[in-house]
Amino acid sequence: MTDVDGMPRAGDGSPVMIEHDGEHRTPVALPVARFDDPHLEPAARHPRRAELIVAFFLLVGIAGVAAFGGAYVENASTQALAVTFGVGLFGLGFGLTAWGKYLMPRGPFEEARHELRTSDSERQAMAAALVERTGVVVKRRKFLGGLLGAGFGIFGVVAAFPLLRSLGPLPGKLLFVTDWRKGSLLVDSGGRPVHKDDLQPGGIMTVFPNGFQNTDNGQAVDQTVLIRLQASGNIVTMPGRESWGPDGFVAYSKMCTHLGCPVGLYERLLEMLVCPCHQSMFKVRDGAVPTFGPAPRPLPQLPLTIDPDGYLRAQAGYDQPVGPGFWERNTSLKNGTPA
Ligand code: FES
Repeated sequence: MTDVDGMPRAGDGSPVMIEHDGEHRTPVALPVARFDDPHLEPAARHPRRAELIVAFFLLVGIAGVAAFGGAYVENASTQALAVTFGVGLFGLGFGLTAWGKYLMPRGPFEEARHELRTSDSERQAMAAALVERTGVVVKRRKFLGGLLGAGFGIFGVVAAFPLLRSLGPLPGKLLFVTDWRKGSLLVDSGGRPVHKDDLQPGGIMTVFPNGFQNTDNGQAVDQTVLIRLQASGNIVTMPGRESWGPDGFVAYSKMCTHLGCPVGLYERLLEMLVCPCHQSMFKVRDGAVPTFGPAPRPLPQLPLTIDPDGYLRAQAGYDQPVGPGFWERNTSLKNGTPA
């Protein structure tokens, strides 16, 4: 005899052992999924209300991610980017979590223990039942599924923005060169040439190569600190730099070798340049080697000369890239210091 599930049973109702491939097994019938199966009902007491709430949060998520995309394109503030992205992620995440908690089948699903190895026919039955149940569940939630798909879709598109835009053009030689050349006249931010009498011992000023003081490059990679350590005599900061510091002057790149902040503070008594960002300290008389802080290299030194009229000029450009390190930077030694 068989029961309503098609399971063979003995006269007393107990399952009958059947023989399969030489083994004795207790057959297990897999119930067919039905819309009215109470186990497949949503866990929420009011599914319709839960569905509306899930839809609301998914829509909020979509709007948030879309707003983030717009804010990114418009170069909006970091706060606007954070808020829109946060709202987008929260909406999608909350909607997805609530869907899983309140709208998925409540169960419980349990199965009588039997031998671990199932027969081929049982496996086929299981595969068919899974396909059928999944179909039943997914067909119920087409609208939410569409919203969730739209949420992930727009998230994927917006996530690709940084790849498409933020990488920008290749910098080429830009990181390696400044506008300092042999004979460049040192000028202040107003374009006034710097005469050797303009600075007294202990004085400091920011200088640029003439003609570049108001350019983006001038304000970034060209900016240089000029310091007068003493009234006369050459300042030799390192072997090989015997002529770089005439009449007590030395000049160093103003871009910190840590993260590029302008090294604009000068501790006169200690003869130290100090970076205000993370407090790296550079010893001016010894080639601006860092003695404290995270800066990994000395500030590059600009070789100076004084022309017959008493104006300061560059003997040559910097002998190494200025500013923080980057991937292609040559780390070989120059003038006894890491370049
Ligand atoms: S940028 Fe100068 S110490 Fe960090």
